[in-house]
Amino acid sequence: MRIVVLNGVNLNVLGRRDPTLYGGITLSELETRIYEWAARLECTVRCRQTNHEGEFVEWCHDALDWADGVIVNPGAWTHYSWAIRDAVELLSVPVIEVHLSNVDEREEWRRRSVLEGLVAGRIVGKGPEGYREALELLVQGRP
Ligand code: DQA
Repeated sequence: MRIVVLNGVNLNVLGRRDPTLYGGITLSELETRIYEWAARLECTVRCRQTNHEGEFVEWCHDALDWADGVIVNPGAWTHYSWAIRDAVELLSVPVIEVHLSNVDEREEWRRRSVLEGLVAGRIVGKGPEGYREALELLVQGRP
């Protein structure tokens, strides 16, 4: 099984962002964990991060021909990027939306997700473990 993990805007500086919200982990530590979990689950993972919306969209397009499942954390784009919604809508494989922090209990504007109604699953507020849960759900075919 092949899974793409797409992290969006500002997630490259994860280790410098508020540790009470994001846990202090760096993106590279997070990706290392994801690759380890994937190895244990015997699936192939590609982790990508970008601060450029168009690149995020293009990686969704690339996933059309490669992935059996997709995990997305579009960062702040989650709350307003209709371009990312359109790109995710193209995917016919299961998509799981993950947020490290509990966006549902933060500012009002973070409670809205443009991916609503498209994703097979949504995991918020579980920190890095959210990505592990998403991988497990995809591998077990029960997102
Ligand atoms: C985030 C939540 C978003 O609201 C925020 O803009 C981020 C990170 C999360 O993982 O908790 O950049 O997606």
